[in-house]
Amino acid sequence: MQKVMCQLVFYALCIALLVASCGTGSESANDPKVPVVAGLPDTVTFADIAPIMRANCMPCHREGQAGPFPLVSYNDLKRKAKTARKMVLGRWMPPWPADTAYSRFVGERALTARQIALFAKWVDQGGVLGDTSALPPLPVYPEGSLLGKPDAVVWLPDAFHIPGDNRDRFMIAKAPFVLTRDTFLRAVEFVPGNRRFVHHMNGAMVTYQPGGKKEPLQPSDYIDSDSTKSIDAYGELHLQNDDGSWPPLTPNLVNYLPGLSPPMYPPGIGGWRIGREGAFLMNSLHYGPSMRDTVDLSRFNLWFSATPPERPMRELAMGTLGDSPVVPELLIPPDTVMTFRSEFKLPKAISVLTINPHMHLLGKRFLAYAVTPANDTIHLIRINDWDFRWQYAYTFRHMLVLPKGAVIHVEAVMDNTAANRNNPYDPPRTARAPLTGHIRTTDEMLQFFVNYVDSRPGDETIALGR
Ligand code: HEC
Repeated sequence: MQKVMCQLVFYALCIALLVASCGTGSESANDPKVPVVAGLPDTVTFADIAPIMRANCMPCHREGQAGPFPLVSYNDLKRKAKTARKMVLGRWMPPWPADTAYSRFVGERALTARQIALFAKWVDQGGVLGDTSALPPLPVYPEGSLLGKPDAVVWLPDAFHIPGDNRDRFMIAKAPFVLTRDTFLRAVEFVPGNRRFVHHMNGAMVTYQPGGKKEPLQPSDYIDSDSTKSIDAYGELHLQNDDGSWPPLTPNLVNYLPGLSPPMYPPGIGGWRIGREGAFLMNSLHYGPSMRDTVDLSRFNLWFSATPPERPMRELAMGTLGDSPVVPELLIPPDTVMTFRSEFKLPKAISVLTINPHMHLLGKRFLAYAVTPANDTIHLIRINDWDFRWQYAYTFRHMLVLPKGAVIHVEAVMDNTAANRNNPYDPPRTARAPLTGHIRTTDEMLQFFVNYVDSRPGDETIALGR
């Protein structure tokens, strides 16, 4: 257990360092072309594009959300028309790196070629307002949760004061809880108190055995992972049992990125047992730079289940530090573009729920698919323009059955030239995978996580969306 915990801390550090070193991403790409689409109106008006914007931009670009400015009114959009056009044409906004022509997922937010062309034409014609009298009222967004009303809420015990020094921070913190009884957990949602500055969060759950820790609610500070650089962060959080041993930890139980709601699988599928006493552990709680002092008080929404996780979720971790090696060895000399692969043959049939590709700064493209013993190819995911800032986990619309003996193939292209705008070094330096849990900024990684349950007949008809 201690080993797992150390690795998680190092992992958090690595994410921290790597995100801290990032640039803004979209600058040097050639100006992308407007898709050619027939049948657009001669004059495109705000009334034509407002529904697209409300569905695809407003979830993040409105007061109190992650987007840096609102895109709600005509004036909002008019003011940002030029950059918005560029971001939309380049498919950087709305952020949805997965190629929807390859595979489809729950909660997709991606514009069609027609929507992109319509938007570009509106901007090019100078942003005509037109007749907006038939526009429906602005959408009303649920407060506090993307999933509805939670069964319980676990708050962080204290607010975090974000200093106005304009720098990124990567904190480790815990949100301890005492419930009325042991039960089962169906879904967990992390809700940032300050959506503008909370950029991402990766969380685990710690469970105390009855009597294991007399004071399960023992408070602790937020720990800056950059300044600690120590595996003792968990000690400083007072996570141990009273006898000094480490409590069991369920890793990767909850993740946050703007715009993505956590999966809530059908009852009995996935889910966890949750002890009466425990804590949510934030391995990396990333705060973006702020110019003025501000605060964040985040929380966790919990949904319980009366039934135990009848079909427990399992995880296949392919690639770096995982269950299948990267070939060739992940070592990229300066000024080269290389393709790496990893393969895993399934010893049994599985029903895939959610997948999560992971690379660092040098990643360019990512592809994963399975080939069955009957030689059919099953698409998993294709990312044509890797963006390390938007490392979503993707949930299939229906369970995706992969038969016994199928081989999962992962192919990734990494670019260690100066032309890669995200290259942390100029001139480029040799990049390689970490050999242990000690992950440094300069390391590259190629990982593919597959969350699945053991397959049963009829699984392909089970819908995973809400
Ligand atoms: C999932 C949340 C989300 C959605 C949906 C979203 N954005 Fe953004 N947008 C952001 C965040 C966060 C940033 C700032 C960070 C960044 O640049 O990546 C941003 C930045 C931008 C920028 C500034 C980019 C720059 O480099 O100056 C523009 C323009 C933009 N978004 C337009 C749009 C448009 C237009 C849509 C809808 C078609 C949209 N966004 C949808 C989250 C979102």
